[in-house]
Amino acid sequence: MSRVRIAPSLLASDLARVADEVRSVAAAGADMLHFDVMDGHFVPNLTFGPGLCAAVRRITTLPLDVHLMVTNADELVEPFAAAGAGRIAVHVEADLHLHRTLTRIRALGVVPGVAINPATPVAALDEVWAFAGFFLVMSVNPGFGGQILIPEVLDKLGRMRAIRDRRAPGVELVVDGGVEAENAGTLRGLGADVLVAGTAVFGAADRAAAVARLRAEEGS
Ligand code: DX5
Ligand code: ZN
Repeated sequence: MSRVRIAPSLLASDLARVADEVRSVAAAGADMLHFDVMDGHFVPNLTFGPGLCAAVRRITTLPLDVHLMVTNADELVEPFAAAGAGRIAVHVEADLHLHRTLTRIRALGVVPGVAINPATPVAALDEVWAFAGFFLVMSVNPGFGGQILIPEVLDKLGRMRAIRDRRAPGVELVVDGGVEAENAGTLRGLGADVLVAGTAVFGAADRAAAVARLRAEEGS
């Protein structure tokens, strides 16, 4: 089993000092940076657009992992690819023509992902396993950082892993929302390849220790 990768979410950073924040988590051993893009329609919150992504691209070599929580994802994949995104996830609940969007993302040289809300059944992904590079399993309802992981999502993650292993071993499973040291071992054991963590990393005084705790094997 390969080592779990950690993606700190900039949503929980101090945006007044964003360059320092990015450098701090890079030095702490983060594997990629997670960008939570919210439009005030798909989720009841507004965050940032491709401009911030492009600015951050200039100051780090970390891969940029863009999570689009928007109703018009298809229109935004090009601007985010141009801004330097290495991975772009769109929500299955928000995209009417998911196959087209995923194909478009891949054609731009970006890894395509599909995000799935806690209440959306795994079956909604049935036809896209072959077209996605990763699935972003939401373990909170999207819109805000600092929420508590919904425990029922653990069972869903286990079921997704079983399908993945059988049908699409190359598809990564990413868990996003309420990830913390206390549940990271369980998530890794259930097959998470990437853990997104906002509060657990940016809220910690020692970010290297926080990243290491999320990555450590259970019981260590
Ligand atoms: C929620 C976002 C998450 C969030 C994670 O809408 O998709 O990425 O920022 O933050 P924490 O780790 O604080 O739950
Ligand atoms: Zn996210």
